[in-house]
Amino acid sequence: MICGENIVLRAVEDRDLELLRKWRNHPDLMPYHFCPLPVTEMGQRRWYEKQCSDTRNVVLIVANKEQVAVGYTLIKEIDHKNRLAEIGIHLDPAFHGKGYGKDAFLTLMRYCFHELNLHRIFLLVFAFNERAIHLYQRLGFKEDGRMREAYFSQNRYHDVVVMSMLENEFVAIQSD
Ligand SMILES: CC(C)(COP(=O)(O)OP(=O)(O)OC[C@H]1O[C@@H](n2cnc3c(N)ncnc32)[C@H](O)[C@@H]1OP(=O)(O)O)[C@@H](O)C(=O)NCCC(=O)NCCS
Repeated sequence: MICGENIVLRAVEDRDLELLRKWRNHPDLMPYHFCPLPVTEMGQRRWYEKQCSDTRNVVLIVANKEQVAVGYTLIKEIDHKNRLAEIGIHLDPAFHGKGYGKDAFLTLMRYCFHELNLHRIFLLVFAFNERAIHLYQRLGFKEDGRMREAYFSQNRYHDVVVMSMLENEFVAIQSD
């Protein structure tokens, strides 16, 4: 278990799979996935088995002080040579705007730099996702660039923003 201020990041248990599927299929969260297709029970299990069979990937449940699962966070395709990985987060809409996103992401960042010894973490975010971009900027992520019109939704193309943080930038933030 990885402890934040008001949340913990814990391992995914079998009992969480249906919850993960509920979040994956939630109409309010679907627009934030590259592949906005509903996932079946079998599809969810296969996805999780694939994550577990690849040590480059980490999926963690975000739980609050009451031990309620409020969302999940991921570290994808850890690259040990270049010491980098992509990270992501999705919270249950019932728990948005309560500070859990900031707490969970900060905890995940600390884990990436202080435990996994990564040099660079990065993420992809749709340009229309102002809430997420605001959070990432507040945490100190910098925009690397944009993949122009890389995502099609609602009958139009959207830019995908690439944001990152380096280990020395995280050290600077920690000492602020
Ligand atoms: C993005 C997400 C992780 C943020 O977590 P959260 O717990 O809701 O956010 P927090 O409460 O920690 O705070 C987010 C900040 O965004 C601000 N914010 C809230 N809604 C906003 C909006 N529509 N536009 C801009 N900023 C917004 C908050 O005021 C807060 O800023 P502050 O700390 O300066 O006051 C969460 O909302 C989520 O899971 N969204 C859906 C999935 C998603 O978008 N995932 C990211 C994919 S890249």
